[in-house]
Amino acid sequence: MNVDLSLEFLRVVEQAAIACAHTMGQGDRHGSDRAAVEAMRRCMDGLAIDGTIVIGEGERDQAPMLYIGEKVGRGAAGGHDFPKVDIAVDPLEGTNLCATGAANAIAVLAAATHGGLLHAPDLYMEKLVVGPSSRDAVDLDAPVADNLKAIARRLDRRVEDLVVIVLDRDRHAKLIADIRATGARIRLITDGDLSAGIAAAVQGSGVHAVMGIGGAPEGVLTAAAMRCLNGEILARLVVRTAQDLERSQAMGIKDIKQVYRSTDLASGRSIIFAATGVTEGTLMKGVRFFGDGTRTSSLVMQNDPHQIRFVDTIHVHQGMDVKVRF
Ligand code: FBP
Repeated sequence: MNVDLSLEFLRVVEQAAIACAHTMGQGDRHGSDRAAVEAMRRCMDGLAIDGTIVIGEGERDQAPMLYIGEKVGRGAAGGHDFPKVDIAVDPLEGTNLCATGAANAIAVLAAATHGGLLHAPDLYMEKLVVGPSSRDAVDLDAPVADNLKAIARRLDRRVEDLVVIVLDRDRHAKLIADIRATGARIRLITDGDLSAGIAAAVQGSGVHAVMGIGGAPEGVLTAAAMRCLNGEILARLVVRTAQDLERSQAMGIKDIKQVYRSTDLASGRSIIFAATGVTEGTLMKGVRFFGDGTRTSSLVMQNDPHQIRFVDTIHVHQGMDVKVRF
């Protein structure tokens, strides 16, 4: 996939972020999500791709748009010779964060050559996300203390100096106790383990690992980001009921106990990842409106050619009189 395509995807996440940012703090998570979904879907039509949504807003009968299997892009409208691309979307990752104006809500998508993203069921997933230095030093089944020691060694610091992000959920009581017992520092977050995972793979973000159970779709998106940032996600589906098993099998999962790495979840030869901040975040600023313009902050990455871009865009509304500030 070419560089121009990554910039087209940038436009898609920017527009989704702008649309839902208008609803920030309104306390209506569904309304925020709807705004992002509609804007993202609208922008998809203009893309020079023959695209298929493989991770989206749900099954066709549950979601009016961006549903799994939906065709998007100019190829879907009957155009010829566009590249076949599979797309995972989360138009608003952190619906509650946007609804309350809390940090780290993002609009995000990943694209891969056809077949290059795992069709993950909408279940939970155990996750361990680390940056490039620790990517071959951790094990999903190792005790928490061993993983933290390994990460600390690779980062040349003490375990007590690490910061681990964990979703603040009852299911993580033991995990949190285990991390605390090592002396490592913890940042408990209410939502948004995807942006936390991206931060863990970027040096200087102050985040060294993400641990715990979160959404599987977010896990696939994290994997796409790791393919570009050279970080790693280790993950395994949480299959608790016969219905979970049925859903997994229906989506083609053969071994429900498999421990996935980034290259399993996002196996595509060519990967594009794009995210725009909705609210203020660790790596991206939130959307800022200033009367006759809007400013967005995004991360656009691809692995072939391998490029990471932090993009600061001013969307000018009314031409000549807009003053651009640094
Ligand atoms: P939404 O954007 O759909 O609200 O999800 C946010 C999120 O916090 C994800 O980042 C995380 O993976 C998942 O929800 C955790 O799920 P749960 O809230 O059920 O623990």
